[in-house]
Amino acid sequence: MVDQVARLEAAARERLDPAAYAYYAAGSDEEISVGEAAAAWRSWRLLPRVLRDVSHVDTSLSLAGTPLATPVLAGPSALHGMADPQGEVATARGVAGAGSLLVLSSRSSRPIEQVAEVAGPWWYQVYCLRDREVTGEQVRRAARAGARALVLTVDAPYVAPKPRVRDPLPLGAHGDEALANIPGVRAQDREQDPSIDARVIGQLAEQSGLPVLVKGVLRADDAVRCVQAGAAGVIVSNHGGRQLDRAVASAHALPAVAEAVGDRVPVLVDGGIRTGTDVLVALALGARAVLLGRPVLWALAVGGSGGVGALLESYRSQLSTAMALAGAVNLAEVTADLVAGAGRSRG
Ligand SMILES: Cc1cc2nc3c(=O)[nH]c(=O)nc-3n(C[C@H](O)[C@H](O)[C@H](O)COP(=O)(O)O)c2cc1C
Repeated sequence: MVDQVARLEAAARERLDPAAYAYYAAGSDEEISVGEAAAAWRSWRLLPRVLRDVSHVDTSLSLAGTPLATPVLAGPSALHGMADPQGEVATARGVAGAGSLLVLSSRSSRPIEQVAEVAGPWWYQVYCLRDREVTGEQVRRAARAGARALVLTVDAPYVAPKPRVRDPLPLGAHGDEALANIPGVRAQDREQDPSIDARVIGQLAEQSGLPVLVKGVLRADDAVRCVQAGAAGVIVSNHGGRQLDRAVASAHALPAVAEAVGDRVPVLVDGGIRTGTDVLVALALGARAVLLGRPVLWALAVGGSGGVGALLESYRSQLSTAMALAGAVNLAEVTADLVAGAGRSRG
């Protein structure tokens, strides 16, 4: 099943401008974390249940009050306009058709409102910028456009160097940066504010009136601090290996975070999730849902909105098969005892 995303990536690479492909594929520094992510999921082993009636398997869930057909979501990634002329508008259509949820990057190629018009349920990813007024206006704008939650990304106080990204990006009509959502703002004010602390969670919630999930958490103590500061969810992530290189794989960080957070708020995870069985492992280790980064970009480049929809449906159907083979008929039955050596049983 891994081959499926690898094949998609190879096909996308042929179609994409080489600089765009390098930008999407890159990790930071020596690319150690990006190289380890998928293998970390594959290192877990399963303990399937037998003699259960698995003739009907249900992958649906309710996530932060939103009903979804699948726990496989489209995570936030910048600049979809290099993969498809419609950019995030095409992505949003594909995601909605698959009954999933889109996390729209604040570095999108298309303006929030255009994406919102065609989207199903969506959340808005935000960085806290040096200019708090700009950030405040962004999150209020997302709320007005119909975002159901904010995803505050906290693993990027500075943008890490990516040696593979050397050439200018083919941004076409979209200008010299992903500015669809923050036009007319001076470059230094668009930078992430490296001085923020956990209080920003409550501030953004107040400014937007939306629940705030925190993305980029790898440690149990940080996860607990986020929950105490009012986070509505925690997303275990090392930013697809694009921030601190050698940051631990999310597949290995997840169990301790899930254990520390317990049932207080949902824990989500991303990074290197390439098959439905990876999704099964993630859910068994305590995630309520998973997010995809690069696979969505490859699918968008190869097949536009239809490609994104087909990708998400393929993950859903692989997950359904893996659940049946593991003896779980719904997501509540995907518990830690399915994973060998995962510690005490949850749920
Ligand atoms: C090209 C690219 C752009 C990204 N842009 C953002 C972003 O704007 N905001 C954010 O929170 N994460 C961003 N990410 C990180 C993803 O949300 C996610 O954490 C990561 O890609 C998951 O790993 P995967 O690509 O192996 O699925 C980006 C990732 C990629 C590959």
